[in-house]
Amino acid sequence: MKKRVGILISGRGSNMVSLIVAAQAHDYPAEIACVLSNRPKAEGLKKADAQGVPTAAIDHKTFSGREAFEAELHSALKSFDVDLVACAGFMRLMTPDFVELWRDKMLNIHPSLLPAFKGLDTHARALAAGVKVAGCTVHVVRPQMDDGPIIAQAAVPVLEADTADTLAARVLEAEHQLYPHALALVASGTVRIEGERVLGAPAPASSAGPLIWPPPV
Ligand code: GRF
Repeated sequence: MKKRVGILISGRGSNMVSLIVAAQAHDYPAEIACVLSNRPKAEGLKKADAQGVPTAAIDHKTFSGREAFEAELHSALKSFDVDLVACAGFMRLMTPDFVELWRDKMLNIHPSLLPAFKGLDTHARALAAGVKVAGCTVHVVRPQMDDGPIIAQAAVPVLEADTADTLAARVLEAEHQLYPHALALVASGTVRIEGERVLGAPAPASSAGPLIWPPPV
């Protein structure tokens, strides 16, 4: 049985589209049940509509507080019979109670190699720190922001000419490959969460080798 996934967005929704497209494959272990946005004008809602995925806007500004907003979000996810939640550029902090309701069933993508560079402006901070390799992480959501068991990561080189925008674009391309892969690992039951680690992903027969950057000549 395919897992039913609810995607939470706040904006552009490019990761959301990558999940929707991946889930159109007949052998993908998850189907996208709904896309919910806390911003009624999020561009991603139109993109989900165009793909024929049910959408709903739950505007956080119309609720008395975080708990009331989350109660509505939770009941919407339940009404779509969701098994797993995939946050994809969802820009609301969640209460520990809400996170607990979806414990080990809620995923997030963050554009850094966690635990480095949690929070906003990750690319500018990575450039300022002078790192040579950047990347992205899909992890299980825990109450602390950008924290939780790591499911999968992708690394990309940082180029000397990079600006925060060019680095963000390179990382975003990696995100679009990583998120469908990580969601499939969880939805298929290939990996399991043991404490704060995610275990069980099959090792490839041969490794592609390390990403060394700058490369040896
Ligand atoms: C992505 O970089 C994601 O990692 C971060 O927010 C951005 C959302 O982009 N959490 P999009 O809405 O998926 O295009």
